[in-house]
Amino acid sequence: MSVRVFVPGDMAAVAVGADQVAAAIAAEARRLGREVEIVRNGSRGIFELEPLVEVETAAGRIGYGPVYAEDVAGLTASLFDGADHPKRVGRPEELPFLKRQTRLTFARCGIVDPGSLEDYRAHGGWKGLERALELGPEKIVDAVKASGLRGRGGAGFPTGIKWDTVRRAAGPRKYVVCNADEGDSGTFADRMIMEGDPFLLIEGMVIAGIAVGATRGYVYVRSEYPLAIAALERAIEACRHAGLLGQGVAGSAHAFDLEVREGAGAYVCGEETALLDSIEGKRGQVRAKPPLPAHAGLFGRPTLINNVLSLAAVPFILAEGADAYRDYGMGRSRGTMPIQLAGDIRNGGLFETAFGVTLGELVEDIGGGTLSGLAVRAVQVGGPLGAYFPPGLFDTPFDYEAFAARDGLIGHGGVVVFNETVDMAEQARFAMEFCAVESCGKCTPCRIGSVRGVETIDKIAAGLDRGPNLTLLTELCDTMKFGSLCALGGFTPYPVMSALTHFPEDFGAARAPVPAE
Ligand SMILES: Cc1cc2nc3c(=O)[nH]c(=O)nc-3n(C[C@H](O)[C@H](O)[C@H](O)COP(=O)(O)O)c2cc1C
Ligand code: SF4
Repeated sequence: MSVRVFVPGDMAAVAVGADQVAAAIAAEARRLGREVEIVRNGSRGIFELEPLVEVETAAGRIGYGPVYAEDVAGLTASLFDGADHPKRVGRPEELPFLKRQTRLTFARCGIVDPGSLEDYRAHGGWKGLERALELGPEKIVDAVKASGLRGRGGAGFPTGIKWDTVRRAAGPRKYVVCNADEGDSGTFADRMIMEGDPFLLIEGMVIAGIAVGATRGYVYVRSEYPLAIAALERAIEACRHAGLLGQGVAGSAHAFDLEVREGAGAYVCGEETALLDSIEGKRGQVRAKPPLPAHAGLFGRPTLINNVLSLAAVPFILAEGADAYRDYGMGRSRGTMPIQLAGDIRNGGLFETAFGVTLGELVEDIGGGTLSGLAVRAVQVGGPLGAYFPPGLFDTPFDYEAFAARDGLIGHGGVVVFNETVDMAEQARFAMEFCAVESCGKCTPCRIGSVRGVETIDKIAAGLDRGPNLTLLTELCDTMKFGSLCALGGFTPYPVMSALTHFPEDFGAARAPVPAE
């Protein structure tokens, strides 16, 4: 009887040898005369166990990890029967890291075969699209509005309102653009979906197309994600063959087709208008608003731009109802957030949970503290433009408003842990330098301010006119915050000022300077 073995094809697993493991298992199976089907699934998101190899047994799937190529010869006798072995971790669903999650968006990731449209269907895929076709554009938008979903790319803008704006916009042609540039430090959730459950994103985009009246979609994927690009291309082709993309989507009167565009490798190309310029073949530079992309976006047409996670949340909302999503969360942050734990953390990986979990629970309890064993000094949430939070702020719940109230942001849900050896003045300098390197150059506060920011922090570190330079740095941050055209220049002050406010000793200051009135 054939045995089904799962070896993740996700980049996080491939980076630690999953391809070699898959090849070694195939060779061992031939040597032992066992019939084995190897499925290259997505990752479950428990990175310490990657490559996590699973085998299908009568008692469900049994995991072994981390498995390296050199382990395979000694493992296969146990693996093929799900038998005992020091690397056996049991049923992955029973592992505390997975058991504690609420996986709505990531429900299938790591479980399904990302290359099989039928496997996606067998696990509940396309139900959202079926429901969407029954409802029609206006009611789809109503459902997305009622779910309380907010953009997962960073800004947290209500998704339903954006969809409604594009739906109402007049135009002979409209577009749906998926932002898969995923440039934030410590983030990988978009990549995991594209590599592990690509049909989910396609389903979300088709629903979006029907809702807003768009006939064409683009997925803008960063060039560093070759496996995601390949997985999407394969999935798009399969959907075309199955009549789920193209003319008459799923037998309906709607037409919708998709194309993947590879990113140009600049952080600012994740900003929605720079992204549009990049798709149009121009240098990625931020456009002044208005007009909003919803009115005049790609090629001047009404365009819906959403992050991968926003679009990937939609099939669940349609299939299970807006309330099923809205019931999770706190305050105005509804549903679940796929949180990404990275940096010096013991249990790094993907943790999807309802909004409301505190930063302390995430880092110390779920994340298990630092991998190094050193004390946690700071946590940066929300990518390179996010604030640094000290352990004193660990009671902050994961919620857009709670983070904003403490001058932070949750952004795309990246949580990067720094241990006690971190120099926060260096981190502040890095934030300014990052802004200087990545600035699109369109506005002065960002283009010039970031360069002056680096110089000023260097002077502070060298002990030159420390007091006046600290005041200057604070004023410069104010100028960038309020004078920049987009959030690259506008949010760089968050990491800088949070470092200065919470860790003044690293700047040689007794406390954060109070700017002069
Ligand atoms: C400098 C900069 C980089 C950004 N990078 C990304 C990104 O990589 N992915 C993303 O989805 N949004 C990114 N955004 C946010 C987008 O501009 C936009 O808000 C988002 O794609 C909208 O989708 P959403 O409403 O689903 O979040 C970035 C914004 C800025 C200012
Ligand atoms: S803030 Fe920076 S990245 Fe944004 S428009 Fe201005 S120069 Fe460009």
